[in-house]
Amino acid sequence: MRKLIVAGNWKMNNTFEDAENLITEIASALDEKKFKCDVVICPPALYLELATDVADISGLFVGAQNVSDKDSGAYTGEIAATMLESLEVDYCIIGHSERRKYFGEKDEVLAEKANKLLDYGIRPIYCCGEVLEERENKTHFDVVRQQLKNGLFHLTDAGFGNVIIAYEPVWAIGTGVTASPAQAQEMHNFIRNLVAENYNREVAENTTILYGGSCNSGNAKELFSNKDVDGGLIGGASLKADEFIKIADSF
Ligand code: 13P
Repeated sequence: MRKLIVAGNWKMNNTFEDAENLITEIASALDEKKFKCDVVICPPALYLELATDVADISGLFVGAQNVSDKDSGAYTGEIAATMLESLEVDYCIIGHSERRKYFGEKDEVLAEKANKLLDYGIRPIYCCGEVLEERENKTHFDVVRQQLKNGLFHLTDAGFGNVIIAYEPVWAIGTGVTASPAQAQEMHNFIRNLVAENYNREVAENTTILYGGSCNSGNAKELFSNKDVDGGLIGGASLKADEFIKIADSF
């Protein structure tokens, strides 16, 4: 059975004190109630240790927002997979559209980042998704196919088995425009079939595919009720504990 996951991508938000409060509130909600999904937070790297300390004594999981494609050495400002491993980080987002757009990250580099994470036992959350123009000119399936092929499909069955895919249509990120449940289901089903073609049906059925893009407590239930939508990667709505917890409680 594949895992259901709700993951919060904090992006570049929160001071240390804000982070402490938010982590504490989320952890205490997890203490009080059992959720059907794994709850993951992906704070800025500076706060990962804070988060993994809390995760040690709660049901929380922790993800980083980025990792280097290099092992170690003279790469000022970078963070290596081995460092994330040493903090007991569980997941790491790679290929977010903001990293692709503002930092020029290409699929080939992302493929190497996925390799590094898997070498150190960290599960990649690989983001894919089209921009508005690509949806309008109906190339969105081709775009997503290419992103997955270049970034992930070199992995062995065993490696791929540890990957989470996040479908995040770029036009839905931070815009308040959510993909309709039908649009999300259609793309998630397409992705699952692609995985089946490249691996096999069993691997595909075990792959967790998250939706991201203006997901909130008002629309999460409807989105997550689709057969191939296994949870969400949440941006803005993950910065408020009660809102994030409501989303995690939407299954
Ligand atoms: P929003 O939920 O703010 O649209 O962001 C989604 C996202 O980019 C998560 O990675």
